[in-house]
Amino acid sequence: MKEVKVFSPASIANLSCGYDVLGVCLDNIGDVIIVRKTKEKGVFIKKITGQNLSTDISKNVAGVSATALLKNTNVDCGFEIEIHKGIKPGSGIGSSAASSAGSVYAINKLIGEPYTRNQLIKFAMEGEMTASGSRHADNVAAVLLGGFTFVRNSIKHDYFKLNSPIEMAFAVIHPKIELKTKDSRAVVKNNVTISDMVSQSANLGAFVSGLYTENYELIGRSMKDIIVEPMRSILIPKFNEIKSACLGEGALGCGISGSGPSIFALCKGVSKANNVAKKMKEIYDKLDLEYDVHISCVNDVGVKVL
Ligand code: HSE
Repeated sequence: MKEVKVFSPASIANLSCGYDVLGVCLDNIGDVIIVRKTKEKGVFIKKITGQNLSTDISKNVAGVSATALLKNTNVDCGFEIEIHKGIKPGSGIGSSAASSAGSVYAINKLIGEPYTRNQLIKFAMEGEMTASGSRHADNVAAVLLGGFTFVRNSIKHDYFKLNSPIEMAFAVIHPKIELKTKDSRAVVKNNVTISDMVSQSANLGAFVSGLYTENYELIGRSMKDIIVEPMRSILIPKFNEIKSACLGEGALGCGISGSGPSIFALCKGVSKANNVAKKMKEIYDKLDLEYDVHISCVNDVGVKVL
């Protein structure tokens, strides 16, 4: 095989109660990445469409993660990468994760798959480091493993996949402002009280239990973030109003998607997600603020060959 084309999906990190821990893979929005073997050794970014991004392999996350993989591998060729961006950088639905994970997944295919999807996470995380200044694996784990995912320890590379109840559907609204993950992480203070720690860990445990018992009501009432959301939500236009409207329309839960500015609502069923998305749109229409809306089920497969 000399060339491979992959679809690398968007993802939602945190899911309110699992900052840097929980992630979920979305199914109908993502980047398309083509990787070809070259005689010349090294990594080359040949072409980028859809967004104006650097082709410098030390600045582009796809180049950084590919380089991290190749440092770990003995191969007698190089790789050129074409990136067709379907996800806007700074949107909060895992743009850098899709490019980072997509490039390492494609290269792994071309070299005979010496790594499992789980083992590729550590290379993709190097792209996240370049994009945000921190090695969080919640988005890349979701893209590479598919479904709902859990990062137990990103330094020890301990990640796994969770159960996905079949009727889960997401409504996501992206107000067209760019919020860099680095900036959104900078507003998160380091101190947490014991009582907040107790509430947040209770919600995280209950959320995971809800996924396995397919208890939608438990999942919904566990989707609370009393620590990070209050600090970040001030950066997102009409966050509280949108959240109240989504919950009023019957969403199970609603919160900031990753580091924002996208807002997601988790719903039981696609038709509920469509109704919730209508409520989200009405609020931004009143503000005359441009936005994108996505409706997605859980993508249980993750990044895949096209
Ligand atoms: N967990 C990360 C954060 C996700 O919230 O900063 C960034 O996409």
